[in-house]
Amino acid sequence: MTPVLEARNLVRDYHIPGSLLRKGKIVHAVKGVSFAVDQGKTLAIVGESGCGKSTLARIVTMIDPATSGEMLIDGEKVDIAKDGLTPEMRRKVQIVFQNPYGTLNPRKKIGDILTEPLIINTRMKADERRDKAMAMLKKVGLEEKHYGRYPHMFSGGQRQRVAMGRAIVRHPQVFLFDEPLSNLDAKLRVTMRAEIKELHQRLKTTTVYVTHDQVEAMTMADKIVVMRNGRVEQIGKPLDLFDRPANTFVASFIGSPAMNLFEGTIDSGRLILDGAGLPLPAGPEHAATKIYGIRPEHLSIRDGGVPATIIVVEPTGSETHVIAKLGNADITLLLRERVELQPGQVISIAPDLSKVHLFDKDGLRLN
Ligand SMILES: Nc1ncnc2c1ncn2[C@@H]1O[C@H](COP(=O)(O)OP(=O)(O)OP(=O)(O)O)[C@@H](O)[C@H]1O
Ligand SMILES: [Mg+2]
Repeated sequence: MTPVLEARNLVRDYHIPGSLLRKGKIVHAVKGVSFAVDQGKTLAIVGESGCGKSTLARIVTMIDPATSGEMLIDGEKVDIAKDGLTPEMRRKVQIVFQNPYGTLNPRKKIGDILTEPLIINTRMKADERRDKAMAMLKKVGLEEKHYGRYPHMFSGGQRQRVAMGRAIVRHPQVFLFDEPLSNLDAKLRVTMRAEIKELHQRLKTTTVYVTHDQVEAMTMADKIVVMRNGRVEQIGKPLDLFDRPANTFVASFIGSPAMNLFEGTIDSGRLILDGAGLPLPAGPEHAATKIYGIRPEHLSIRDGGVPATIIVVEPTGSETHVIAKLGNADITLLLRERVELQPGQVISIAPDLSKVHLFDKDGLRLN
């Protein structure tokens, strides 16, 4: 199957002009990024602030040109290096919104907002536009009675639906969301996340979803691109990234609380840290192992484990996070059962050996 959208080795340099006092410089925002999105799937691009996500989003939506690289839509090459793209080309990828509160014109009725994109198509008659808008309202889960209302009369979730409907009337091949939920409070974010996912499942539009939030990426996407510093660290299915991170960056980025990572030396089946030793799974990787990773949920308190002294106990209700000192290092445990634990108490920690991640001196996965 030909991917709907394919990026090949995209590069973007920004030239910052100099002044009398300062020399100009070049920012390498995107340093050769490739990925592909299949029909009807959601691809998430995730990474810390400044890693180049929005730059990539602007290239993909053809708002900004790339310095080099190729982009294909339905297998057809798009000219992204130059300006002068036709409106038809630009319409193939639609940016939905960056902030659902900012993009809808407050002085326009919802019906007019939805049909605005169709005004470009001058041959479309007024009633035909109206019919289309009505159909679109239903498609995104709103009703005909909403046609004449203004954006402020809608809830955040409904506004999001309008914004998606507005993008759909143009029949784009790909939807792109750039941090749509980042300005919302935690509770609304979870509701909206489910709304977007539900809409996506219903409309089956191919989607690129940009976020700095790994939980959002994990829950929304079929495939995730993890970026750092303008480069791709790993591409994979959400649970594959979680189960088999390719390197220590992805290991600590995906998952919350973050994976415990310890650096040490191997001696007779154990990773020796300052003042403690962790048991390793059997395998051929021991010689090259430098870093040991274990997720907080894959540790338990059991006799015969490694002794550690509790520093902090954080009950959340459904689970308990425990931070303890293991030699000189901190270790985090996530316990699902209710436990009576006190700071200062010495516990015996046992890792699930089948869930241990081993990395070499460069942080690359070994097992
Ligand atoms: N127009 C511009 N001119 C110069 N440098 C820019 C420009 N836009 C972005 N940059 C730089 O390029 C890098 C990537 O920026 P970008 O906005 O793509 O990051 P991001 O991953 O979207 O970050 P955030 O999560 O904060 O939105 C940053 O170092 C940024 O300062
Ligand atoms: Mg951004």
